[in-house]
Amino acid sequence: VTAQRGVRGDVAVLVPAAGQGVRLGPGHPKALRCLSGEPLLVHAIRRAAAVPSVGQIVVAAAPGAVKLVSELLVGVVPADISIEVIAGGSSRQASVASALTAVGPRPIVLVHDAARALAPPELFERVAAAVREGHPAVIPVVPIVDTIKYVDSAGMVGGTVDRTALRAVQTPQGFRRDVLVAAHGCAVDEHTDDAGLAEKLGVPVFTVPGDDRALKITRPVDLVVAEALLTRRGPSGRA
Ligand code: CTP
Ligand code: MG
Repeated sequence: VTAQRGVRGDVAVLVPAAGQGVRLGPGHPKALRCLSGEPLLVHAIRRAAAVPSVGQIVVAAAPGAVKLVSELLVGVVPADISIEVIAGGSSRQASVASALTAVGPRPIVLVHDAARALAPPELFERVAAAVREGHPAVIPVVPIVDTIKYVDSAGMVGGTVDRTALRAVQTPQGFRRDVLVAAHGCAVDEHTDDAGLAEKLGVPVFTVPGDDRALKITRPVDLVVAEALLTRRGPSGRA
């Protein structure tokens, strides 16, 4: 489903939203689960659309939900941003690859999980700016707060990881369009993020500071945290 309506900005955003949300427990597919009365996907798209340099958004929805998702997004995005909803695939990577086929000529592509519904517009800006400055691949990262250990199948600790050089990785992840196309074109095995594919190609990946609000809503407790963030920060979810 396509609504091509004008041209603006140098950034396209791909939003993988085709997952089931198994870890969230029984209910609607995750992107359609509500937070303060609105689906996660609507929260995510509204924030992406608030980024001045974004001119195109492509959503990968579950194959059976393309029409429903298109209807849900009517009026969420300003008229000068092109928005398309396409059928995603059986893995996150397949969904991103599928969205990538719908991407237009814009030189910068951000990939953003619908599950990180509260990632603020300034995080999109920070990532896109680093790509614009010449980094072919850019990821937002945050420090690891927990101590990380190797544990074997018998539950025994095999060692402790030095976490000082470790970071947890968020989305949106930003790429020069040709780099992301090449990375997905060369993909052989499944990666949990797009930078992983770029690394396989030998592309240098730059990091920028992430944002607590870009937490990935995965387990039921994350919905509680997200609701609290929205309440604390008011209905727009902005600070
Ligand atoms: N995703 C996707 N297509 C898939 C699987 C996942 O587009 N086949 C998307 C999800 O909708 C989500 C993002 O990739 O926005 C990150 O995935 P994750 O948080 O794992 O979401 P789910 O796969 O839906 O959750 P779960 O693994 O608990 O089922
Ligand atoms: Mg998943």
